[in-house]
Amino acid sequence: MEKDNSEQPSQILDSHSNAVPSPFPWLEGIGDDSLSTSRGFVFQFPPFPTLPQVKELTRPTAGLYFHIPFCAYKCSFCYYATSVTHDSRTVQRYLDALSMEMGSRTAQNRAERHDIRTMYIGGGTPTILEPEQLSGFILGIRERFDCGRVEEFTVESTPNTLTPEKAAALRASGVTRVSIGVQSFSDKINALNDRHHTVAEAFQAIKTARQAGIDNLNLDLICGLIGETQNSWKETIQTLLNVAPEHVTIYLFSMRPQTSAFKKVKESKVQRPPSEAERVALYTYARQKLLENGYTQTTPNCFVREPRFEHIHQSNAWSSLPLLGFGNSVYSFVDNTVTQNVSDISTYKELVSNGSSPVEIGHKLNARELMSRYCVLRFKQLRVVREDFRKSFGYDVTEVFGHEIERLEKLNLLTVDETAVSLTTKGTVYADDVCRTFYTPNVRQRLAEMEQGQPTSHIKAKSALRLSLA
Ligand SMILES: C[S@@+](CC[C@H](N)C(=O)[O-])C[C@H]1O[C@@H](n2cnc3c(N)ncnc32)[C@H](O)[C@@H]1O
Repeated sequence: MEKDNSEQPSQILDSHSNAVPSPFPWLEGIGDDSLSTSRGFVFQFPPFPTLPQVKELTRPTAGLYFHIPFCAYKCSFCYYATSVTHDSRTVQRYLDALSMEMGSRTAQNRAERHDIRTMYIGGGTPTILEPEQLSGFILGIRERFDCGRVEEFTVESTPNTLTPEKAAALRASGVTRVSIGVQSFSDKINALNDRHHTVAEAFQAIKTARQAGIDNLNLDLICGLIGETQNSWKETIQTLLNVAPEHVTIYLFSMRPQTSAFKKVKESKVQRPPSEAERVALYTYARQKLLENGYTQTTPNCFVREPRFEHIHQSNAWSSLPLLGFGNSVYSFVDNTVTQNVSDISTYKELVSNGSSPVEIGHKLNARELMSRYCVLRFKQLRVVREDFRKSFGYDVTEVFGHEIERLEKLNLLTVDETAVSLTTKGTVYADDVCRTFYTPNVRQRLAEMEQGQPTSHIKAKSALRLSLA
């Protein structure tokens, strides 16, 4: 399209009088005496003369996520879409499907136009794959995407699946960061929660990763597991500090109805987990200890030993940079559209083998929803910087969400100053509730209906969304 200058009236002559029309009263607004049909044809916004010069064609920075939905066993607390298998052919068939999904999406030219900076293989337990499967799978990714500028490549693992051969295969394939699910440094607590590894195995896995040359290690812990006491948690945190990983994630235990932990507690087969107040005290203790020992908090759950160990993949995704997900149940965010693949593994495999898209649900966000998403994901990074919000949306965040912010300020969950709206210490504990407060009214309405057992409008909306994406 040719550069359009039609909104510069000095370059247009009135066809009848041959006179230059008066400039449009941009600042005062139109009145009867300033109306004119001679100022040129409006066909898009913003007018080209107001746009800045583009130095070079840029491709948006993006992350790749691959889901491996298999585990060697199911932990009692786990609510993720995973399946237990010990059969490497089952795993291979799924890897073949992943490869097909990658192939069809790169063929549709949806991936190459992104500048891939982070990669993440999560699960499930990706290190359930054999060493050759890990290397072959990663090679397949590299053949399909330009990974030359990748800054961080994470693979999730567990203590009893990270063998020296697998760690070496990961490092040789360019993995820079390994995330190990330790959950607790107490054998007793792990056993009570059907977590089948010992503390000795956790130490061994950490050593294995280090020996393979992984110098960026995340350890996951769960705060408030069944059987946890103040003393056992203090010991776990002390052990964590002795190990001194580069990155720590402390999840607050969430006991979901679909888990075996929920069932066992209901049937009084195991004791109840610590109460809400006890869990908050355990989290607060861990946070305090980590900060005292030089860690910096980067999200309500994450702590880094040095700023350079911030989890780039997560912070990019939470800064709304494009994220391309592959596999069952994964989500993607591209062109302001969030989509999720079908969760059932067999259905996923069937769809991609037939050349069909595995995307099941999705929605292109409108301007108001993008503002909500922005706040939700920035509060997951502890604060909304006012100038950044203004640059993105043209408004101050307090103009758009004044009511919500005031309410959360009164509850001592947020503080507002000239530069940012930030979570307080109490806000970091209840960060997810702070985020929920910024959901759009229609999403809150749907969630309320679903929780009251009236899923009709949601189901209708779900099929409408499917149609709108078709
Ligand atoms: C996607 S999961 C799987 C990681 C890996 N398969 C493992 O078993 O360690 C990532 C993390 O979520 C956390 N997690 C899983 N279930 C949880 C729950 N019910 N409450 C809190 N955190 C949970 C655990 O810390 C786990 O390491």
